[in-house]
Amino acid sequence: MASLDDVAPGTLLGVEVGEERICLANVDGEIYALRDNCSHQDFPLSAGELDDARLECAWHGARFDVRTGRALSLPAIRPVRSYEVKVEGGIIFVLV
Ligand code: FES
Repeated sequence: MASLDDVAPGTLLGVEVGEERICLANVDGEIYALRDNCSHQDFPLSAGELDDARLECAWHGARFDVRTGRALSLPAIRPVRSYEVKVEGGIIFVLV
């Protein structure tokens, strides 16, 4: 699991939870977790950019809402899976 200190506000971090690759996003101190795989093609979302709650994929520029996983712009049309997150004592737990 990751520490809150590893994901500064406005940044993304790719982590492994069991067999899953997870993209953590820090939006103004609130942590969100998505499957670390773009729904357009096989590419890690954690390599993208975070602007407020919008994540832009680094490959073709599709945008997603990190709070829900919803696709906001082409070329992605399908959502990415989002996961419940808990932060306790500065440690981030993702419920997969
Ligand atoms: S792989 Fe993400 S937009 Fe194409």
